[in-house]
Amino acid sequence: MTAPVPVYLDCDPGVDDTVAIAYLLASPAVELVGVGTVSGNTSAAQAARNTLDLLALAGRDDIPVALGAHDHLDHPFSGGAPHVHGDNGVGGIVLPRSDREVDERTAVELLLDLSRTYAGRLHILAIGPLTNIAHALEADPSLPDRIAEVTVMGGAALSPGNITPVAEANIYNDPQAAAALLDADWDVTLVPLDVTLEHTLSEEQRQQFLADDRPFVVAVGQILDHYFDFYLPSYGARTCALHDPLAAAIAAGGVSPSRALQVPVVVDVSQGPGRGQTIADLRGQRTGPRHHEGVRTRLVLDVDDDAAAHLVATILA
Ligand code: BDR
Ligand code: CA
Repeated sequence: MTAPVPVYLDCDPGVDDTVAIAYLLASPAVELVGVGTVSGNTSAAQAARNTLDLLALAGRDDIPVALGAHDHLDHPFSGGAPHVHGDNGVGGIVLPRSDREVDERTAVELLLDLSRTYAGRLHILAIGPLTNIAHALEADPSLPDRIAEVTVMGGAALSPGNITPVAEANIYNDPQAAAALLDADWDVTLVPLDVTLEHTLSEEQRQQFLADDRPFVVAVGQILDHYFDFYLPSYGARTCALHDPLAAAIAAGGVSPSRALQVPVVVDVSQGPGRGQTIADLRGQRTGPRHHEGVRTRLVLDVDDDAAAHLVATILA
């Protein structure tokens, strides 16, 4: 059996971030070696508190949790998405408070430390705004040399956006940071709305979490309740999109892209109506996949696997 891939997770829990964390803890293919938080769905500080509490409930107080950026590169944090993720970011569920506090290092310092400890092997999984990653690249431009791969949940290629008509939330919340990440010289797998909106969790699967005998898994089921309410009008059923969990499953290799294109992706960093749009060059693809030579960004457009079934089975195992 191959050794698990060390993963640094940058996140903003966040209901779907919570499911991603549950999956990463359960997957034998990865070892979660550190978590940094960033403002997005909630503030970076609340996201850190949520992460500490979730990890304590899962019995994983050994994983360092570091506080990341409160504000974004060109604007302050504007309050998050309580209508989507609840007032506290975890669906309004009050988790038992962990005794543990955040690591003494910042998220950037933790990431840089881990990149040295696991040089050449560390995988970055970023499922929130990309502010911390941009700061890390600025602090140490040699970071990409020590990273095996970066997986990002973010963007929308042909799909409409989910925060503006053209922009996806993680990218929109810090377009300049996203542009810096995509400009850097490393292998990036971008998991956009085009594919994440196609994979959903059912109420029956949520009930399976609630029926589990582990408090952590039960809490995941409870946290999803509010998120299911949010998605009711768009799907016409109690369900939710699996944005961050799908990116986690792709990073872990548990789910394989069936259509992924190496194409240039640029981010609109303007203040206009296109702000935060990820503009993917999908020209010339009519007769079959055409990868652009030298491009290190892989855009995932389809996944044939039943990602929800895989995620649920892994978390419940
Ligand atoms: C992304 O934005 C956040 O609300 C979710 O946690 C996910 O990372 C989806 O657009
Ligand atoms: Ca997220």
